[in-house]
Amino acid sequence: MHILHVVGARPNFMKAAPVRAALGDGQGVRQTMVHTGQHYDVNMSDVFFEQLGMPAPDVNLGVGSATHARQTAEIMMGFEHVVEEHRPDLVLVYGDVNSTVAAALVCSKLQIPVGHVEAGLRSGDRSMPEEINRLVTDQLSDLLFTPSADGDENLRREGVAEKKIHRVGNVMIDTLVQMLPACGAHKPSGLPPRYALVTLHRPSNVDDLPWLRTLLLALADLHENLPVVFPVHPRTRQRIASLEPGALSLHFMDPQPYLSFLALQRDASVVITDSGGMQEETSYLGVPCLTLRDNTERPITLTLGTNVLVGRDVERMRKEAELVQQAGPRTPQAIPLWDGHAAERIAKIILSAA
Ligand code: UD1
Repeated sequence: MHILHVVGARPNFMKAAPVRAALGDGQGVRQTMVHTGQHYDVNMSDVFFEQLGMPAPDVNLGVGSATHARQTAEIMMGFEHVVEEHRPDLVLVYGDVNSTVAAALVCSKLQIPVGHVEAGLRSGDRSMPEEINRLVTDQLSDLLFTPSADGDENLRREGVAEKKIHRVGNVMIDTLVQMLPACGAHKPSGLPPRYALVTLHRPSNVDDLPWLRTLLLALADLHENLPVVFPVHPRTRQRIASLEPGALSLHFMDPQPYLSFLALQRDASVVITDSGGMQEETSYLGVPCLTLRDNTERPITLTLGTNVLVGRDVERMRKEAELVQQAGPRTPQAIPLWDGHAAERIAKIILSAA
């Protein structure tokens, strides 16, 4: 059985690594890793392959950054050749980035079965490009691997056949469970003992410059009581530079490799973010998470995890940051199937269908 994985952007790498390992090589399985090149900086891509123990991609389409239409189209054109050459038995796509939907579209036209890892998540917010990517990818996929029961329900509501839906749990947590013991040694030095860890990259937060300015000033206020540690995504770096914000006293740093970032999350007093994956990781770690969005496609992190939606409201962010500091560390609540074994369940389903 020839399985082809498609990855492109940073959050894909931690999802593909455990699935690739669980499928193994041998027992009649051959695997090919295709990187679209959507993310290309060393610290957004290569360093993740190294730390996650994944061999370098077999194919790199090198598409780079562009508008959504151009990037998606270039991935499709490059990937069509790869599929025609390799004729895989199954293509696995991950998450909700442009590389995910582009690959699923190519496969559906060439009638190659597609498995979507992290299927069924819905925010209900179609202004986010990721929501469109999720909706389309799930309609085109043959195997839908969901992380939680809400995913199954969303898919049923959209008419996806029951036999395609497989609730397997969260593969990103597989990687976290595996890497957590090693992360302490990679923690960046020179940090204060207590800090808020901040990340921002969603267009709704960083492309709206007046709002970004308000947010940065609110974070500078917070920094006076609780130091703010802020690894800056390339998109965000460009936007902050265009604001010419003067000397903001936040602790800015470059995007971090997987292990140092995991250590930063583990030891944070609070995380403030618009990332999807971090809502999940903080829930597993029991670290309070304030999400700078009005909605989430990961509602289980609100009900069972540590996530609170603070929207675009800096006063709410300030209050919630105070509350979580007063409350102290939380004992994490186990989320069903977020147990480090999701990829094994995926491999079992794929191999038993072979
Ligand atoms: C993409 C995903 C988003 C995911 C995020 C994780 C889509 C629609 N968005 O958003 O879902 O949460 O990745 O990071 O697929 N850039 C670099 N170096 C890189 C990559 C990007 O400098 O290695 C810069 C480019 O100027 C680019 C900008 O960052 O224009 C944004 O990159 P892009 O891949 O378009 O989207 P992300 O914001 O990273």
